[in-house]
Amino acid sequence: MSNIERTLSIIKPDAVERNLDNEIKDIFKSQGFSILKEKKIQLEKFEAEKFYKIHETKPFYDDLCSYLASGPIVVMVLEKEDAVLGNRELMGATNPKEAKEGTIRKKYGISIDKNSVHGSDSLENAKIEIDFFFKD
Ligand code: CDP
Ligand code: MG
Repeated sequence: MSNIERTLSIIKPDAVERNLDNEIKDIFKSQGFSILKEKKIQLEKFEAEKFYKIHETKPFYDDLCSYLASGPIVVMVLEKEDAVLGNRELMGATNPKEAKEGTIRKKYGISIDKNSVHGSDSLENAKIEIDFFFKD
């Protein structure tokens, strides 16, 4: 049975700053993801805080939110069979040093905080995150 899902992907400031957005979009497309929606924006700090509210109690929360708001990002809705897990696999581990060969974070990530991409971690969060950026 087919299980087409949508997930939210963000190309983070470190990657956009290095002009890697088209290259990263090509990787998604070559792996069979359709980019249904996309926009390049810069968040205000309070918007980044809202987006990452799930991490509010973590020690890295404030730096994480400052970083996400530090420059332009590319936000995309990706669609594919089992897109949520497929995107997480293609992204690789949170820490680029631990990410497997062939993953986006292995290829482009600089450090655990500047790890080039965000991807929803569950179907439920994917819906919430897609609404956060693309609610009409
Ligand atoms: O992005 P991912 O879902 O893989 O990781 P997360 O645990 O949900 O953390 C969100 C983001 O916080 C990560 O992508 C990192 O950029 C950042 N982070 C950090 O700066 N330091 C950590 N020790 C853990 C995460
Ligand atoms: Mg996460």
